Amino acid sequence: MNNLQISSIIDKAEKNHHLDCDEICTLLAIESDELLQKLFQAAYRIKLAEIGNIVSLRGLIEIGNICRKNCYYCGIRSGNHNLSRYLLTQDEILHCAELAIKFNYGSIVLQGGELNTPDFIDFIEDTLIKIKKLSDNQLGITLSLGEQTLESYQRWFAAGAHRYLLRIETSNEELYKKLHPASHSFKERLNSLDYLRRANYQVGSGVMFGFEGQSYSDMANDLLFLKKLDVDMVGMGPYSIHKDTPMGANHPPLDNDKQLKLGLKMIAVLRLIMPDINIASTTVLQALSPMGREAGLLAGANVIMPNLSDVVYRKSYQLYDNKPGIDENALESRENLEKSIHSIGEKINYGQWGDSRHFAKR
Ligand code: 5AD
Ligand code: SF4
Repeated sequence: MNNLQISSIIDKAEKNHHLDCDEICTLLAIESDELLQKLFQAAYRIKLAEIGNIVSLRGLIEIGNICRKNCYYCGIRSGNHNLSRYLLTQDEILHCAELAIKFNYGSIVLQGGELNTPDFIDFIEDTLIKIKKLSDNQLGITLSLGEQTLESYQRWFAAGAHRYLLRIETSNEELYKKLHPASHSFKERLNSLDYLRRANYQVGSGVMFGFEGQSYSDMANDLLFLKKLDVDMVGMGPYSIHKDTPMGANHPPLDNDKQLKLGLKMIAVLRLIMPDINIASTTVLQALSPMGREAGLLAGANVIMPNLSDVVYRKSYQLYDNKPGIDENALESRENLEKSIHSIGEKINYGQWGDSRHFAKR
């Protein structure tokens, strides 16, 4: 396909927000800088039209790295014994929530390894109630704590959480089986996404991409899957090697620049087909390049999750090698982020929950 034809696919999608699998594959395979810029600019124009030059922040609290799952790619998988395990105390979590209030972030994310013991479910429920009280019901709360029963999701919703992120990781069931042990069921994950809707959350999902054995058409189908699922928000990012994992130990080296470009293309294409959802510019982009998260915003993302966790725990929360910001405290994160967001002409949506228009229209 020549450049003119590719260019017209972008023009058409900017107008009608529709792309089929073949067209998405063509866009993901773009190599020319000129076409890449055209793609990113089209996505950014949609973001400006739907959302404005506004970035929403979610203060990220990494509450613990103890996980019952053993995903082949992830640094905090239960089979990795090369790290110390922690679970924040309730006071430590509340302290992070206070920081979010002080920084006027408007909303926080509690993220951590997947645990489903009755004690853990109670602990989260009680913590949610206390965060709500502490903030006079002002702070928005997103959870990202893996697969749970419908009842647990409902209890956490009643206690004050209103958004939930659960990545499908890959929409191709065969690939899912390759990335996970046999006990991790693709169908169960789909069920969990369904439970989240039934429990009235704003539902977020996402994928990991750019690993060996995956094709452009897998990635295109991932984006079409997210559209079909009609998600309100997406967090997705390129695979990055963690050497203490079965997948990382055997994976051919990855080119950072290529992974970053792929990450930006995926964001841009998603923005073309889902104009009014929240899309996160994830930390993994920052790991690939110092201005990676800002590049994500300019390719159509509108959410950033600055880390509020105490630096003493950050080393133990490495899902992939060379995670950035390990030594940077929450105040430094905030100052650096504010500067760099302003430098690209965007404003921070301080003090707001920042729900997607997609959700508001539901
Ligand atoms: N590279 C990129 N993303 C990863 N995740 C876990 N391990 C890696 C990795 N090595 C992502 C998964 C998971 C989220 C918490 O982090 O998509 O859902
Ligand atoms: Fe646990 Fe999530 Fe890592 Fe899988 S990806 S091992 S569920 S933290």
